[in-house]
Amino acid sequence: MVTTLDHTAAVAAAVRAPSLHNSQPWRFRARDDGAIEVRFDPARRLPASDPTGWGAHLAIGAAVFNLRLAFAVQGVTPQMLLTPAGADQNLLAVVQPGPPHAATPVERRLWEAVGRRHSNRDPFFPDPVPAEARAQLVSAAREEGAWLELLIGDGPLAALSEIARTANEVLMRDEAYRAEISAWTRNGAASDGVPIEAGGPRPEPQDLLPARPYSSEPRSTWQDFKGHPLVAVLGTVGDTVGDQLVAGQALQRVLLTATDSDLSVSMVSQPIELPSAREQLRLALGRFGPPQMVLRIGYGVSGGPTPRRPIDDVMDQLIDDA
Ligand SMILES: Cc1cc2nc3c(=O)[nH]c(=O)nc-3n(C[C@H](O)[C@H](O)[C@H](O)COP(=O)(O)O)c2cc1C
Repeated sequence: MVTTLDHTAAVAAAVRAPSLHNSQPWRFRARDDGAIEVRFDPARRLPASDPTGWGAHLAIGAAVFNLRLAFAVQGVTPQMLLTPAGADQNLLAVVQPGPPHAATPVERRLWEAVGRRHSNRDPFFPDPVPAEARAQLVSAAREEGAWLELLIGDGPLAALSEIARTANEVLMRDEAYRAEISAWTRNGAASDGVPIEAGGPRPEPQDLLPARPYSSEPRSTWQDFKGHPLVAVLGTVGDTVGDQLVAGQALQRVLLTATDSDLSVSMVSQPIELPSAREQLRLALGRFGPPQMVLRIGYGVSGGPTPRRPIDDVMDQLIDDA
């Protein structure tokens, strides 16, 4: 059973995960027992935007979710070990092949969404997100041990808007933070970073939620953000590295569930990055556990997937199982 696993396909799916500024902070190692080890790559740290490693842990958790799907559709139960004890601090997860497993219809649908999912930073159509799709997003987070709070009504959205915009203002005062955004904005061929054409319209002061200045193009009138069909906050019970890896897996499950329903999503993390804003948001939501990500969800004009580094660049050792 073990020898039939296609590790290349699994890692190719893993790297489709989202990451802050598309920094892709991961490395993979395929073991001859069929397991795949996932490590944080310190060379891809974002010292100004992600000093604690929270963002990298979310990205790695999302990559682990894709690995789990790859194992499941290849007929094995994915067994997972998060933050295994050992000397290697960068080893964050191991996905091991368990007993034979027939992929469920949900696993197949989510797997099919992996290559189609991408951030959409453009304004969405005003069409509401149907109740059934909302319920599916909430259960996607729950299935992974996280929570997803849908902000209903103007009050909660206004509170989030205030917290997020203030957080963005504070963060953007830091020159190193701004420099990191510029350094990861790509105008031309690149295998990482955010291509300006995927960066969405240039942020403007009236925007309800703060966008990143990936693009400096003035926006046309149709691109004004008049509102958002659905805004949600993803969170966990605690905030250990393990919790953040859980958050990443839940994030990916929510994103793939949205993709499967033809919904577009973009992420807003400034209110999470600034500890005081994150705490304010937690209190505003009346939650015990910390928020881990803010999501804008709706129907939009789909762009395309963004680039990733070649598999060989992220594999420490590729064991050919043939
Ligand atoms: C931890 C984390 C934080 C992110 N924060 C933001 C954000 O604040 N604004 C934004 O536009 N995208 C944000 N993103 C999305 C990434 O920029 C995006 O995933 C990456 O550029 C790859 O593009 P893709 O999602 O289209 O595959 C975040 C992603 C992660 C994992």
